[in-house]
Amino acid sequence: MDLERLQLEIEGPVARVWLNRPEVRNAFDGLMVTELRKTLFDLLGRDGVRVIVLGGRGASFCAGADLAWMKAMAGFTREENLGEGQALADLFFTVYESPKPVVARVHGAALGGGAGLVAACDVPVAALGTQFGFTEARLGLIPAVISPYVLGKIGEPAARELFLTGERFEAVRAMEIGLIRAAVPPEDLDAAVDGRVKELLQAGPRAIAEAKALIREVAYRRVEDVQRYTVERLADVRTSPEGQEGMRAFLEKRKPSWAE
Ligand code: COA
Repeated sequence: MDLERLQLEIEGPVARVWLNRPEVRNAFDGLMVTELRKTLFDLLGRDGVRVIVLGGRGASFCAGADLAWMKAMAGFTREENLGEGQALADLFFTVYESPKPVVARVHGAALGGGAGLVAACDVPVAALGTQFGFTEARLGLIPAVISPYVLGKIGEPAARELFLTGERFEAVRAMEIGLIRAAVPPEDLDAAVDGRVKELLQAGPRAIAEAKALIREVAYRRVEDVQRYTVERLADVRTSPEGQEGMRAFLEKRKPSWAE
């Protein structure tokens, strides 16, 4: 598919997806949402690709929803509004449930839906100085479809403050509240992202997919309610070809077949 709003680079097991609308700081409109979702689906079906890196071209990672596009929604029917909202929600869910790990390379600004995208990713790494914010309330809006992912990362106390004030905050605060995993000087951002990618490539691809599913199933549940599930997953995974290969490789003092 020809991409108008994105750039895609595939190098061995790593796919880099660049939001590419720098003139509006990579704000997303309907076309970008469609292209991103389709691109992610394609990458999930591509055997050689094991890690996805999401970044933004130009000065910022992502300024959230395109406010001209959002404003134009007032002229749409409720059905059309629900359809557009659902497409947006599906995009965040695709990132979140992707069996392949998604690393976010964050710089400049990650605001509104852009901060939501960060929250939906597995390993967000940001440049110091990046501006974050759930600015929706200042626009008379709410961070609706991103809220499950953001709440999962920062919890209710921080969300109560940041969703209500709509204030902007810096990478160090984003790390303190759990929105990102690392904050590094801008000149070190690519090296830091590459470091995370390298670590992910040491892990079994099926194990990563299983671990993501495990986290989704177990988080916030009572131990008694998930214990049987965890026992079953362990039984399945340790007898799987990948589990067997991983343990054999360790015992034979060699790298497993998937490690770079
Ligand atoms: N939707 C549509 N257009 C946007 C946008 C958005 N979310 N964010 C930025 N733009 C546009 C600006 O209107 C401007 O357009 P212009 O060149 O026609 O004037 C252009 O992108 C550049 O923005 P500018 O503010 O001049 O760039 P900057 O680098 O100084 O600041 C941001 C970048 C992202 C910090 C700033 O644009 C901003 O705060 N944007 C609003 C983000 C927001 O609140 N998003 C939440 C959406 S729910």
